[in-house]
Amino acid sequence: MRVTVIGCGYLGATHAACMAELGYDVLGVEIDTAKRESLAAGKVPFYEPELEDLLAEHVGSGRLRFTDSYEEAGGFGSIHFVCVGTPQRRDGLGADVQHVDAAIDSLAPYLTEGALVVGKSTVPVGTAARLAARLGDGAELAWNPEFLREGFAVRDTLQPDRLVFGVASEHAEARLREFYAAVIGTGTPVVVTDFATAELVKVSANAFLATKISFINAIAEVCEAAGADVVHLADAIGHDDRIGRKFLNAGVGFGGGCLPKDIRGFLSRAGELGVEDTMSFLRQVDDINLRQRTRVVQIATAMLGGNVARARVAVWGAAFKPHSDDVRDSPALSIAGQLHLHGAQVSVFDPKANETALAKFPTLDYAESALAAARDADLLLHLTEWPEFREVDPVALGDVVRRKQVLDGRNRLDLDAWRAAGWATRALGRGSRRSLSLSPAS
Ligand code: UDX
Repeated sequence: MRVTVIGCGYLGATHAACMAELGYDVLGVEIDTAKRESLAAGKVPFYEPELEDLLAEHVGSGRLRFTDSYEEAGGFGSIHFVCVGTPQRRDGLGADVQHVDAAIDSLAPYLTEGALVVGKSTVPVGTAARLAARLGDGAELAWNPEFLREGFAVRDTLQPDRLVFGVASEHAEARLREFYAAVIGTGTPVVVTDFATAELVKVSANAFLATKISFINAIAEVCEAAGADVVHLADAIGHDDRIGRKFLNAGVGFGGGCLPKDIRGFLSRAGELGVEDTMSFLRQVDDINLRQRTRVVQIATAMLGGNVARARVAVWGAAFKPHSDDVRDSPALSIAGQLHLHGAQVSVFDPKANETALAKFPTLDYAESALAAARDADLLLHLTEWPEFREVDPVALGDVVRRKQVLDGRNRLDLDAWRAAGWATRALGRGSRRSLSLSPAS
């Protein structure tokens, strides 16, 4: 079977390579020349473990090709996946669906009789129904949201927690079941529903995850005020199956291309639907999240005795999370940028995101290693929890810094070891007395 994937960004490139892995002949449509040429050469234009090998393999075998021609795509296959981006609008909180509309309009004239167009992009509820009307009678639409996480994109696509099919006919359901037979065959649950529910499943899932993170970050602040420890607290409440320990890591909060934009888009759409009051807690979820960044800047300022302007600050991490080079809405980079604007000399190191960060924030200094970033620092901020940062020996690091002060913004460092090595430590939500305690050596 031959399928096309329209839009080969994060989602589309992954989907295209994974569908080739399932045995389909895949044609990816990408209008950005640089991106298309990179993909056609078997090179992923971003960092995603496992994807590069998969892409290279299937480009090499000829099972995966790329084009900028909708005409070619229309005639190529009978199932077309729409994976274009839906960024936050420049003039408001809602999602900008112009690329989805443009993809449908560009493809529609070339579709063959009986084609199935499958939307995967995250869209405001109501979009699929509108697009179905726009497609006309010759082709059918289905909505099949994607839940992949950056860093685990291949695994999440080939072994998803569930498949969601938003359909308007049994025929469309049958075609999707047939298409995903290999994935369903491994026991993946399938939820079959209408368009609106399928669209809402995606944004609700992301809203829930964002709420969980902001909940624990709010509790973290209470823990600091009360001298309690949010990591122990999260472990304890997480043992309750109904709560679960995942996504209860307190710290500098969530970023990336999905959670922040999706909760804002959800709020905006709820307003259009007349249910804004019901969803207004999402505004607080967003506020609590952004507040973590301000709090870190305030704590850092206090640790520097108020003299940010003359201080050297080392920042470990720039990506919005480890195993990614994505710096979109990254808490780490936002904090580094704020301290820089306050006059600090900021040296950033990220194992994979130095380049993407430099492109976005060229005025910061970027170091070649965790150690180089920390050289002569008055304060070290640990803001993205790459495993290699945990491996750094605080004793050796103590010799290169100017002042042994560290703030763990992700609660992943072994602060007992750091204190034993003479460091003054702070963490988010880990009890003011304990986290501020200085070892006699410092
Ligand atoms: C998210 C959803 O998980 C995924 O299902 C959806 O398809 C796209 O959005 P992603 O943006 O790749 O995926 O990242 P995710 O792993 O969910 O992390 C999001 C952010 O939350 C990161 O900045 C991460 O550092 C932060 N986070 C996560 C926390 O601050 N605490 C946690 O406990 C978990």
